[in-house]
Amino acid sequence: MFVHSKLASKMIKPITGFSRLTKKEKIDWLAETYLKDRPEDVAILRQYWNEDSRLQQLHDEFTENTLSNFYLPFGLAPNFLINGDLLAIPMAIEESSVIAAASKAAKFWRTRGGFKAEVIDTKKIGQVHFNFFGNKQKLKQFFKTTKPKLLEAVKPITRNMEKRGGGVLDIKLKDKTAEIANYYQLHCEFETKDSMGANFINSCLEKFAEVFQNEARNYPDFSSEEKDIEIIMSILSNYVPECLVRAEVSCPVEELNENKDLNGEDFAKKFIQAVNIAEVEPYRAVTHNKGIMNGIDAVVLATGNDFRAVEAGIHAYAARNGKYSSLTHASLENGIFKFWIEIPLALGTVGGLTSLHPLVKLALDILQQPSAKELMKIVAVAGLAQNFAAINSLTTTGIQQGHMKMHLMNILNQHNATAAEKKILTQHFTKHTVTHSSAVEELKKLRNS
Ligand code: MEV
Repeated sequence: MFVHSKLASKMIKPITGFSRLTKKEKIDWLAETYLKDRPEDVAILRQYWNEDSRLQQLHDEFTENTLSNFYLPFGLAPNFLINGDLLAIPMAIEESSVIAAASKAAKFWRTRGGFKAEVIDTKKIGQVHFNFFGNKQKLKQFFKTTKPKLLEAVKPITRNMEKRGGGVLDIKLKDKTAEIANYYQLHCEFETKDSMGANFINSCLEKFAEVFQNEARNYPDFSSEEKDIEIIMSILSNYVPECLVRAEVSCPVEELNENKDLNGEDFAKKFIQAVNIAEVEPYRAVTHNKGIMNGIDAVVLATGNDFRAVEAGIHAYAARNGKYSSLTHASLENGIFKFWIEIPLALGTVGGLTSLHPLVKLALDILQQPSAKELMKIVAVAGLAQNFAAINSLTTTGIQQGHMKMHLMNILNQHNATAAEKKILTQHFTKHTVTHSSAVEELKKLRNS
C-alpha cells in the first residue's frame, strides 16, 4: 500500500463539494490542508492572477477548480517562407533552444526555396461501438435500410456545417467479431472544414447511436435478442491517417554549405543516415519524433488546439506499419537533397479556444487568419524545421553546444549578471566548457577584478 509518510501524521480528510466552493474557499482549503507551513506557496497562486479581473475570470472558466494561471513563454520564430508566403510562427513552449532552432532552420531554407506544403486529405473519423447478438446478414440488411434514417436524424446538427461545405461523408458498418465476440462498429467519416470538429462529431455519433438502437427495437426481421443492440460507446477517433499533410524542403546538394568542415554532399549523407537510423531504430525514432513534436506542439498550443489529440494521432501514425518509426524522411537523388514530413493533423481555426483566448486570437492574427488547412501546413513545417535543426546540430557540433549557451545564460541570470558581464562571459565560454561551478567562478573572478 502507498503511504506517504509526511501526510500520515496529518490525518487528512476527503472533501466533498470542492467544485462548489468559491476560488477563495478552494485556496483556503488547500492552504489549510496541504500548505499550512507554506504561506509563500499560497502567495504564488495569487501572484499569477491577472490583474484584469475579467481576463482572469475568462481563464478561470476554461476548466474546473481553477486556482491560478500557469504561464508558458509565448515566442516567435520569424522568416518562414511557406509556399511563397513569408510567415512568422508563434510558439508556446518552455524548452530552451526550440524557438532558436526553428528560427535558424527558417533562415537557412528561406534562401533555398523555402518550405513547400500540401494538404493530402482532411477526413476525420468517429465510431459507434456496439454489440449485436444474432445473424450478421440480417444486421447488414438492417444497416442498409437504417443508414438514410441516421443521416436524416443528424440534419439539425449538420445543417450549419453543410453550409460551410462539411458534414457527414459516410457511415460504414464494420464487423469486428474476429477480434471481440459480437462487436461491431458504425465507422463514420466527417469533413469539419475549419473547426477541429470534436463536438460536432461526438454529437452526430451519439445521435446515430440513439437512432440505430431505437430502429433496431422496431425492426420486424430481428428476433427479440437481435432487437437488443447494446451501445458500448460513441466517440471520435484522434487517429486521423486520412487528415494528412506533407511538408518538404529541397535544394541542390552543394547548397548545403553552411558548415566549414563538411561539404554539402558529406553533410547530406550524414544527415540522411541520421534520418535512416530513426526509420529503423525505435529508440532513436522516439527521440527524433520528440524533437519534431517540440515544433508541432508549440504551434498547436499557441493556436489553441488540442496538443494531446495531435500527439496521440501522430505517434499512432508513426507506428502504422507495426513498428514505431521516423515521421520525416530524406533523400539525395540526382544531386538534389530532399527532406520531408508527412503527418496526420486534426486542427481548427474556428471554435474551441480560438475566439476566446486572447493570445490564441493574437497567434492566429500573426499567422494571417489561416484556414484549418493552412494551419496544418504551418504546423507540419514547424515540425520539419525543428527536425532539420536538431539533426543538423546532432550530426555536426552536437546538441550540447547550443544548450550550454542557454544554460550559461540561466546561471548568469540567477546571479543577476549585468549585460556587460554576460557579454564578457559568453565570449569566455566560447572556448571553455560551461558547468554551473565554472560559470559562477568566472563571474566571481570578473567581479573581483
Ligand atoms: C530535445 O528536446 C530534442 C532532441 O533530442 C531531438 C533529437 O534528438 O532529434 C534534440
